[in-house]
Amino acid sequence: MGEALIRGFLRAKVSTPSKICCSVKDWERRDALERLGIGSIFGDATESGAEEVARFARIVFLCTKPQACAEVLQSMAPHMTPDHLVVSIAAGITINTLEEGLGHGTRVVRVMPNTPALVQSGASAYALGTHATPHDAELVDLLLGSVGFCIRVEEKQLDAVTGLSGSGPAFVYLVIEALADGGVAAGLPRDTALALAAKTVAGAAQMVFSEDETSVLGMVHPGVLKDRVASPAGTTIAGLTELESSGVRGAFIRAVTRAAQRSKELAG
Ligand SMILES: NC(=O)c1ccc[n+]([C@@H]2O[C@H](COP(=O)([O-])OP(=O)(O)OC[C@H]3O[C@@H](n4cnc5c(N)ncnc54)[C@H](OP(=O)(O)O)[C@@H]3O)[C@@H](O)[C@H]2O)c1
Repeated sequence: MGEALIRGFLRAKVSTPSKICCSVKDWERRDALERLGIGSIFGDATESGAEEVARFARIVFLCTKPQACAEVLQSMAPHMTPDHLVVSIAAGITINTLEEGLGHGTRVVRVMPNTPALVQSGASAYALGTHATPHDAELVDLLLGSVGFCIRVEEKQLDAVTGLSGSGPAFVYLVIEALADGGVAAGLPRDTALALAAKTVAGAAQMVFSEDETSVLGMVHPGVLKDRVASPAGTTIAGLTELESSGVRGAFIRAVTRAAQRSKELAG
């Protein structure tokens, strides 16, 4: 995910490789970062990496797995200054844990991004820590906004965000795969079916953000869009009837709420 953000920032030109440094553990990741042009690559953040990153950068993204965070925060803490802003993307690691780990007074922002940030189509939400400033919020808006949609929420809403937009890409991949299978079952070649399925999902999502006389806050309700394409006794309503009788709507609601609940469980 960290690498996806770097690629997104570079592609969106909000930073350049010479302004970015990284701390990594494995040589494999180092090679991938070098291929992006990043020259300042430091070692393990539980060793000298934390100090080297803190010396190089003022905005530090914490992108390790949640299990690795405690040790990394401990190593970062002695090197944090009032100039540093720490942006954590670690699922389930609370602002309180981050602030306690880094030392009180550290400016912290907790973010839940998602992988489509890699193609400038991310959907991220963030919550400000106790000492983060309005300027920090602007910075995070700028950075995450450069790789997609970004919205500020209260920290208690981040589990729900994790269940929806954090896990959501996987749910949608399953939908795309199933639509493509349907296309194949109905007689299309696999590549044609997959392309049509993915473009249909992308196009339908874009329609939600189109403006018309019914739109509210720049969005058209999906129910309105659905009704417009379901003509009486037509093909679409026949398909929709199948979906409703299969309980698809409830399955998605349960998928999001179960993922949100799991996020809460993992946070402990
Ligand atoms: N994947 C998603 O869709 C997604 C969405 C939202 C949030 N997140 C959050 O993003 C974080 C990363 O997830 P991921 O899936 O991207 O995991 P990942 O691919 O395993 O990336 C973790 C990164 O942390 C580095 N790392 C681990 N320990 C380190 C240490 N001691 N010093 C320096 N670097 C260290 C690893 O370096 P090496 O490669 O060198 O081992 C790796 O680059 C997690 O906290 C997750 O909750 C992920």
